[in-house]
Amino acid sequence: MTKPLEFPIARRCPFDPPEEYARLRAEEPIARARLPRVDQEVWLVTRHDHVRALLTDPRLSSDRFDPQFPQHRQLQEQLRKGFAGASKALIGLDLPEHTAPRRMVVNEFTMRRVNELRPRIQEIVDERIDAILAGGNEADLWTELATQVPAMTISELLGVPDDRREFFQRQTEVLLEAGSSMEAQFAASGALNAFMEDLITGKEADPGDDLLGRLIVRNRETGVFTHAELVGMAMLLLVAGHETVSNMIALGTIALLREPGAYAELQKDPDLVVKTVEEMLRYQPTTDGLPRFAKEDIEIGGVTIKAGDGVMFSLTSANRDEEVFDNAAEFDPHRGDRRHVSFGYGIHQCLGQNLARTELEITFRTLVRRIPTLRLAVDVADLPYKETVAINGVCAIDGVSALPVTW
Ligand code: HEM
Repeated sequence: MTKPLEFPIARRCPFDPPEEYARLRAEEPIARARLPRVDQEVWLVTRHDHVRALLTDPRLSSDRFDPQFPQHRQLQEQLRKGFAGASKALIGLDLPEHTAPRRMVVNEFTMRRVNELRPRIQEIVDERIDAILAGGNEADLWTELATQVPAMTISELLGVPDDRREFFQRQTEVLLEAGSSMEAQFAASGALNAFMEDLITGKEADPGDDLLGRLIVRNRETGVFTHAELVGMAMLLLVAGHETVSNMIALGTIALLREPGAYAELQKDPDLVVKTVEEMLRYQPTTDGLPRFAKEDIEIGGVTIKAGDGVMFSLTSANRDEEVFDNAAEFDPHRGDRRHVSFGYGIHQCLGQNLARTELEITFRTLVRRIPTLRLAVDVADLPYKETVAINGVCAIDGVSALPVTW
């Protein structure tokens, strides 16, 4: 008897998708798979067209508090509570509840708003690279750049006061670092919730002109969010916008340095960075296995997803679908194709994608300019790959725990 498919599927090289995805797309695009960590059976969706069709299907739910919602790992009750606010703020809501909160925040993430942050993001990246260069000719780009840029950008975005930034960043690090113990994560999520609570209370009294301040003013007219939901929204932005960008900086650097000539080409033509970043996102998405469950029966691709069934979307596989992307297995810095699903699709499509692209663009533009001879200090095979579960237990995340480089 053949072994049932397990998700995540084992990989031969951690930085390449499992070969099984190609077979699944061709032969069994919506397959039964088991989540061994929680011993649950789900449907695994691997083809680009099915991923898009189902992620826009209102019969699938994002309600992660429903017992039918597939989790990548059993979440301890305490941590679950820590993220209840964040889930209920937006990402765990279905239609029609999702519409009003999304409308409240969408204006904060337009290209115009993100462009206002550009000079500050540039400063953040430059400061980090100054520190790296001052330290000699080798560095761990994971701790010294990849984790720092999003942490500092989020502090800026949320209007964290200068004298609290160190505390905020320290707690965030503990919360998101894969090596942190469960107890340390509980403590950090508690500390950050209390911190956000204070931050929101302060801004309710004196809003100021930053994202949360403007949100509070708007909320006085619309009354969409309760106080607790505002705190939840701040937590969601922190969690959603940190780990993802850190991992993408690391995985993007690896993709760029693995591809012969790509780093040098970007140096010669820095404007290529916009297309290159898009290709990094397609080629090596940080999130695989986006979960949902069916509220009603759904007939698709010759199978019936029954009400109550869990569904996992392989964004990695959809991004390598040859029906959509020619030579999908190739990293082509000139491709610039935005049809990848690394930011999800449908109503929950990443709210922060303009910000994420901008952080990545500024990081890589600056990296090639300021450290022109950058290279990996170890073989790709020896990089400490980590496959973890996102802090809220919802997604499997690809990344590294260190990124030794030299120049
Ligand atoms: C490369 C970086 C990023 C990646 C790969 C990424 C990926 C994703 C994905 C796949 C989703 C969909 C989740 C779902 O359908 O359940 C999502 C949603 C979301 N992302 Fe991102 N994200 C990134 C950066 C950011 C940033 C910088 C922010 C904001 C600071 C952000 C805020 C959000 C929010 C608020 C949602 C929920 C939207 C909703 O439910 O309507 N993300 N992201």
